[in-house]
Amino acid sequence: MNRGIAEIRTSAADGTLDDFRIASEPYYRPVGEEIELFEAAYAARMPMMLKGPTGCGKTRFIEHMAWRLKQPLITISCHEDMTASDLVGRYLLDAEGTIWHDGPLTLAVRHGAICYLDEIVEARQDTTVVIHSLTDDRRILPLEKKNEVLRAPPNFQLVIS
Ligand SMILES: Nc1ncnc2c1ncn2[C@@H]1O[C@H](COP(=O)(O)OP(=O)(O)OP(=O)(O)O)[C@@H](O)[C@H]1O
Ligand SMILES: [Mg+2]
Repeated sequence: MNRGIAEIRTSAADGTLDDFRIASEPYYRPVGEEIELFEAAYAARMPMMLKGPTGCGKTRFIEHMAWRLKQPLITISCHEDMTASDLVGRYLLDAEGTIWHDGPLTLAVRHGAICYLDEIVEARQDTTVVIHSLTDDRRILPLEKKNEVLRAPPNFQLVIS
């Protein structure tokens, strides 16, 4: 791990992601035991991978599960031009100077949400390497440019398709 990272912060749920909450039940008709399987994985803080042909209901399923588990859902559509900064965040210049802006993955880790990386195979490997430490037992997200390490709260879950 980068030796410059001194701080490990534990994040907790707050109201920041209320815009990402799903207000009404997305209709989903189970085809097997996927709802129970997802709930078990969520309780065990295990990441999930959804596989299936286009139109089979992956997006609808994850929307339904976010509603069912009462969690905000942050969806990221992966593409080959995506960079690690697009996921994690970057410093941007504005009138007050250089300000850090959390990327969508960082928002989900910092405030607690289900983060859905749609079509992750479209992204380059050097982009998706940042998710490794979130998918194993460490459940941390290093923000190297910011010299900060975020520890995912219990309600954070990573889902890929
Ligand atoms: N089990 C299901 N229950 C209810 N609706 C479903 C189900 N499966 C599919 N649908 C319907 O099919 C539509 C397409 O599903 P969805 O967008 O979730 O597919 P997808 O697997 O995410 O496809 P893609 O790979 O193209 O993103 C949904 O909008 C929904 O209307
Ligand atoms: Mg989809």
